[in-house]
Amino acid sequence: MSDSNKALESLLEEKRLFPPPEDFKKAALATADLYEKGKESEAFWADMASELHWFKPWDEVLEWKLPFAKWFINGKINASYNCIDRFISSPTRDKVAIMWEGEPGDERTLTYLDLYREVNKLANALKHLGIKRGDRVTIYMPMIPEIVVAMLACTRIGAPHSVVFGGFSAEALRGRINDAGAKALITADGGYRRGKVIPLKQAADEILKDTPTIESVVVVRRVGDALKTTMKEGRDYWYHDAVNAAEEYCEPEQMDAEDMLFLLYSSGTTGKPKGVVHTTGGYLTGVYATFKYIFDYKPGDIFWCTADIGWITGHSYIVYGPLLNGATQVMYEGAPDYPDRGRWWRIVEKYSVSILYSTPTSIRSFMKWGTKWLEERNLSSLRLLGTVGEPINPEAWVWYYKYVGNEKCPIVDTWWQTETGQIMITPLPGVTVCKPGSATHPFPGTEVEVVDEQGNPVKPGGSGYLVITKPWPAMLRTLYKDEKRYRETYWSKFPGKYLTSDGAKLDEDGYFWILGRVDDIIKVAGHRLSTMEIESALVDHHAVAEAAVIGISHEIKGEAVAAFVILKEGFKGTPEMQQELKMHARKKIGPIAEPETIIFVSEVPKTRSGKIMRRLLRDIATGRALGDISTLSEPGVIAELKKRYESEERE
Ligand code: WTA
Repeated sequence: MSDSNKALESLLEEKRLFPPPEDFKKAALATADLYEKGKESEAFWADMASELHWFKPWDEVLEWKLPFAKWFINGKINASYNCIDRFISSPTRDKVAIMWEGEPGDERTLTYLDLYREVNKLANALKHLGIKRGDRVTIYMPMIPEIVVAMLACTRIGAPHSVVFGGFSAEALRGRINDAGAKALITADGGYRRGKVIPLKQAADEILKDTPTIESVVVVRRVGDALKTTMKEGRDYWYHDAVNAAEEYCEPEQMDAEDMLFLLYSSGTTGKPKGVVHTTGGYLTGVYATFKYIFDYKPGDIFWCTADIGWITGHSYIVYGPLLNGATQVMYEGAPDYPDRGRWWRIVEKYSVSILYSTPTSIRSFMKWGTKWLEERNLSSLRLLGTVGEPINPEAWVWYYKYVGNEKCPIVDTWWQTETGQIMITPLPGVTVCKPGSATHPFPGTEVEVVDEQGNPVKPGGSGYLVITKPWPAMLRTLYKDEKRYRETYWSKFPGKYLTSDGAKLDEDGYFWILGRVDDIIKVAGHRLSTMEIESALVDHHAVAEAAVIGISHEIKGEAVAAFVILKEGFKGTPEMQQELKMHARKKIGPIAEPETIIFVSEVPKTRSGKIMRRLLRDIATGRALGDISTLSEPGVIAELKKRYESEERE
């Protein structure tokens, strides 16, 4: 377990209790009997599913042939129909779906009817480009309303989307396009981040010669003249031209509940990202129900999830969850500290945000920046706060509660993963007594355990591996074109139990405390990265012979990337080389993968069986193993340290 997790474990001394505020409790959608109902999980999820629109009802709720689940067998359903058409014949048609703010300050508002019109037209435009049911479409876009339109248009015609985070590099995009065998790419000329224009189409152009399956590219004009965008005749189309030329109505495809809705690539423990496959009926049911009860969404609420749509949080709780519930939400394109550190709080005030869903990293940044930025604003519209992506330390939890929530908003600390699709462990606002730092209990209808090395449930007070013991509707169905890896990664360690790869503790009162990853995945500012992926990016540099990457604890980001690098003969570990390698990691993966620290060494300490001694590296990187790390390039130093560690480990 990593360093930050150890720090967290010491904080498990946390004993404060935060019962739900009385006012909140009285009006909450979730009530304690939801847990009772959830015990009959199939009936519970069927009830939730029946609140959606089905062209044809299912014959059977669940078929569970370990490790393959099918939910809502033979049910026919369409995602875009459920997110928009369902509201078109009700007063919700004129309700605002998205209040969007661009980083430069431009604004747009889309009602459900606006969304309906735009999605229908884009769906037709895609059909004209030859995209058919089952074809994969990659989306590489900034946080602008068209990304939502693009995703829904794909679902309307039954083409699974694969969104690639706009912060990933061109090379990362290439790998994901090729693995998916995508037929089209939807992108934008660029987007804005911290006042800079980030080129996307130009980045895509670098790799589009190596993506043989791509037949067409649809480009949204976002930054216009700020960038020179070249269009290839017969392959590239401006979004607005394509949409303007398209017919107004596109019949939604009647998809099987088990048809693939989308693919989302996520870091695994090898260098190659995994294509996590989500299907239609179960996923929609899972995110619909969790959004409704965990965010207590009621008409009049303004929801704001600060994630990027390129990650699962944005898929489930910006696109599908809110729209399936007919919600109004805020969507923001840029950085929290641009043009100054008060940006988020101005947004909360301006749009009267009532439910805010954010991350521990942002909360810790705000703590550091001081309360002044919040005090300048009226945040009284807020009534519920959420967090996701990494363990939240009790200090950050209490700060969030006190300064953002003014001690009147419950906090939902939601644990889940790209693979789970939906929130799995969380308080129910209005019901659960919270403990800062604990994600509390499994959502009704789901079953989670903490088990020891043998797979036996630990007693209250014990810690071990977090596993899921029952299928849930939004669970991943497989890894794209890699069933073997699906079985091995999630189902091989403990037969019949889904391995989350998180460590957890179950306390005496039955509360779950997530301690962080137990594999080689790290969470940097909540972003999921694989140490192996960064290692292979570094080794790809011509001067690097070997690299070992670890996560080290970071005050704000939770974890940061530290890289140990052995250079090839003839290269020197200079500050310039450090800079060059940092840039190389950015180019290969993206800015989020840039190592915070690079340490040049003459060898990487390994165990006799060839495993990198990560604990030793962590201690070196945090300065515990020896004070002066500049001597590490000298032969023998690492060997000496290794010996010391081996003898300590034996004791
Ligand atoms: C971590 C993000 C503690 C965890 C939705 C998990 C959390 C990984 C929490 C999945 C939380 C997510 N408390 N840890 N509330 N939420 N995690 O796939 O390590 O980007 O396994 O999905 O994030 O990351 P992913």
